[in-house]
Formats: sequence, C-alpha cells, structure tokens
Amino acid sequence: KLEKGYVWLSILVLVAFFAAIIYASVVLAVVVPGDSGQIVPKRGETLFAAVSRTKPFDQPGVHQTGPNSYDVVVLGQAWMFNPAAIELPVGAEVTFWGTSIDIDHGLYIPGTTVNIMLLPGQIGKQRYRFSRPGQYRIICHEYCGMLHHQMTGTLTVK
Ligand code: CUA
Repeated sequence: KLEKGYVWLSILVLVAFFAAIIYASVVLAVVVPGDSGQIVPKRGETLFAAVSRTKPFDQPGVHQTGPNSYDVVVLGQAWMFNPAAIELPVGAEVTFWGTSIDIDHGLYIPGTTVNIMLLPGQIGKQRYRFSRPGQYRIICHEYCGMLHHQMTGTLTVK
C-alpha cells in the first residue's frame, strides 16, 4: 500500500519536472546558449581560416544592427579575446556571437547573465541588455592552459 503511494509520488514528480521543462522552453523561451551552428573547415583548411571567412566572425567587434541594437562578435583564442575591449551605449540590446579558433574557452561577464562557451568552430549566441553605465570584466571561465587566468577583457557601457 505504502509502495503504491511512492510510485504515484515519483510519477507525479516526473510529470512536474517535464511540465517545468516545457514551461521553460515554450513560455519563458529559455534557450541554452552555445548551439547555434557549427563552422566546419574544408579539407586542408585551418579552423582559424574557416572561422575568418564565416559571418559574422569575419569581422570581430561591435556592429550596430538597429537604433538600439548591436551585434558583438567575439573570438576566443589562447589567451585573449578578440576584441579585448568593447564599448557600448547605455541601453544597448546586444546579441553576443562567440566561437573559438583553437581550444575550449568561455566568455563570462560577472554582474550579467552573459555566459557563453567558446568552443572550436561552434557558434555560441546570447542576448543581453545593458541598462546601466559601468565597467565590466570579461573573463574566460573555461580552463584553457598556462595563461588562462590572463585571458580577460573589458566591456564599458556609457
Ligand atoms: Cu581561455 Cu581560459
């Protein structure tokens, strides 16, 4: 009798988790950052060459796409971000695009929800709105070797 209760309880918990996932993906539109496509080098081509010819990574940096919207295109490499310094106006609606030209890196901006894995040839994408002026640090939060701790950048909102 008691066992039957537990079986029903576990089914209920499963249903609740499933409902929560559906709710998150459909109603809240939660998207796991990092799965927006793959850059595949041609035969004999380096990953760097392949990334460099693939939009938007052919032009790393800040690009205005609308009255208040910007694309920020970032390449990760051992051990730096390209670009390392980013400037945006207050209120900027930003779409971050990131990838790596060598090994696994990360792009994390403390104080925001920006948190993207920079994986070789994989396109990571995330939106964020910078509503207040300030100075942010960009850090690599995936261990990438000897100078991992020096792989930082700055993002200035003014
Ligand atoms: Cu790049 Cu850690």
